Amino acid sequence: MYTQLEQRGMPEPPVNVSTLCKMKTEGEPIACLTAYDASYAALVDAAGTDLVLVGDSLGMVIQGHDTTVPVTVDDVIYHCRTVARGPRRAFLVADMPFMSYTEPAQALDNSVRLMQEGGAMMVKLEGGDDQVEIVEHLARHDIPVCAHLGLKPQSVHKIGGFRVQGREPDKAREMLESARRLQDAGADIVLLECVPNEAGQTITGALDVPVIGIGAGPHVNGQILVLYDILDITQGRTPRFVRNFQAGCDSPLAALQAYVDAVKQGTYPEPEHCFS
Ligand code: KIV
Repeated sequence: MYTQLEQRGMPEPPVNVSTLCKMKTEGEPIACLTAYDASYAALVDAAGTDLVLVGDSLGMVIQGHDTTVPVTVDDVIYHCRTVARGPRRAFLVADMPFMSYTEPAQALDNSVRLMQEGGAMMVKLEGGDDQVEIVEHLARHDIPVCAHLGLKPQSVHKIGGFRVQGREPDKAREMLESARRLQDAGADIVLLECVPNEAGQTITGALDVPVIGIGAGPHVNGQILVLYDILDITQGRTPRFVRNFQAGCDSPLAALQAYVDAVKQGTYPEPEHCFS
């Protein structure tokens, strides 16, 4: 019975929380990507990605909204369920959408739905100190949690745009303290979005759990990007941290492999993708 999760007829065992912690300890960069459907999820997995996120970025890249705010729990479950049929090895994380985790009981109910109906292995939520109680409650019920700090896209209307966070020394200190509290509350991963390299480095060094960055510089334990951004599907201006991995590749799989190789070899991100 227990071998099912470990084997599934694959050359390598599936990634789990312990694998990710071991990668941090051993200094092996963790390559992560978003995915929203089974076909792309299979490619992302075949490329050697360690972690796949069904991000609420689906509201923007799939549904065509300007923000992630309109995304619902049912939307994430639908996409997560399709993605779960793709990967064989990658660890599957699902986003908790806007206002789906305002109270501990509500957060627990929605996490259970994402795991039972969507097939997620971990949930991700945005927030700092304000989410410590929620993370504690989920962790107490053995729900694996990724805590998302820095730029929190669900707060876009409150913060007035998608901006770099933690540039001021007091804000950087606050972020570090929040990261520590979230880890102590039971978060298994911390994700940092759009923060200066220095904040990425300091928080990564201060935590025992893996720190994954998107626009958080080269010193974090792993990188994540939005799939459609790196495949050059996203039209218009992309964020500074995005690199087009499709350029020079003759297939989406080759582009995804180029991304994974670049993360593993430390050739992405370069200074032009980072904030100071
Ligand atoms: O929703 C998403 O895709 C995310 C990534 C930007 C990390 O949260």
